[in-house]
Amino acid sequence: MLLTREEMTFDFHGAKLDPVRDRELLEWMFNQFLYGEVTGIQVGHWLYEAPDMEAAKFLARQSLEEMQHVDNFLRIMAMLGLEPRPAHPAIRFLATGMMGSSWAEHVALEMAQGEGFVLQAFYAVIDTLDHKPSVDILRRAVKQEERHVEFGEQQTRKAIEAKPWLRRRLLGLALVSMWGVRRLIGYLEKRTPADHPVLSQLPAFLEHANRCAELRLRRIGVLDRPLSELSGATRTLLVAEAYGGKALGGLASLVTLPLRLLPLWPKKKRLTDTYLRDAHVTGYALPAPEAARAPD
Ligand SMILES: [Fe+2]
Ligand SMILES: [Fe+2]
Repeated sequence: MLLTREEMTFDFHGAKLDPVRDRELLEWMFNQFLYGEVTGIQVGHWLYEAPDMEAAKFLARQSLEEMQHVDNFLRIMAMLGLEPRPAHPAIRFLATGMMGSSWAEHVALEMAQGEGFVLQAFYAVIDTLDHKPSVDILRRAVKQEERHVEFGEQQTRKAIEAKPWLRRRLLGLALVSMWGVRRLIGYLEKRTPADHPVLSQLPAFLEHANRCAELRLRRIGVLDRPLSELSGATRTLLVAEAYGGKALGGLASLVTLPLRLLPLWPKKKRLTDTYLRDAHVTGYALPAPEAARAPD
């Protein structure tokens, strides 16, 4: 990876999440992760778009790993006595509604940036969750997530080497997700309980995540100077250009695939819509709450 584990790690100063005291928070958090892993079904779409054999083989393996991560989270949730519930609409929109419209967008925004962000959240849970069996499962999963991020970085480099004009577009789209994180920081700053050892540090953690995203963009070669040197007008222009390109792409698919875009055409239900009713998910029995307090 272009960023080390040390660079991506946020120092929570030893603060811990307690499986009993923080049960509600953990249930919310793990349900967002669970949904994120179910969106691994999208890898199938990108396997079909893979530019070469090496990429196809990587994605075939990744799809299996993401499905294993679904089981990892179900196992952790069962151990902690947490129930599978729907993910927050904003998370559903970010993970499904914002799916990349080209290979370059997928590897840059969903793999390098998106999975990079998720990886940082996994590191944070590993460092703070006071439940060794869950942390052990996560430690194994992060090795695979690190490879997914690395693949995203390498493929983004290849894409911009072949088409340098893509840098502007990818930067514009990346700025939007970083802006989204900044909005979240503003929202959380007013609402995080100052007396909670971990939650009170969440805004600072997200700021750190944005700094890492900027560093990654620079090391990949999408960004050639610190973001602070780009004026507000330049940023606005980059975002407008990137979304202008997306709108044009949408217009092209309107011509080629008219039925898919008709508003009344029923949307196909996918696993991301139905997983909570799936026998595989409901089959994970909830243990007695004592399990959450089981000795390490
Ligand atoms: Fe995953
Ligand atoms: Fe992944």
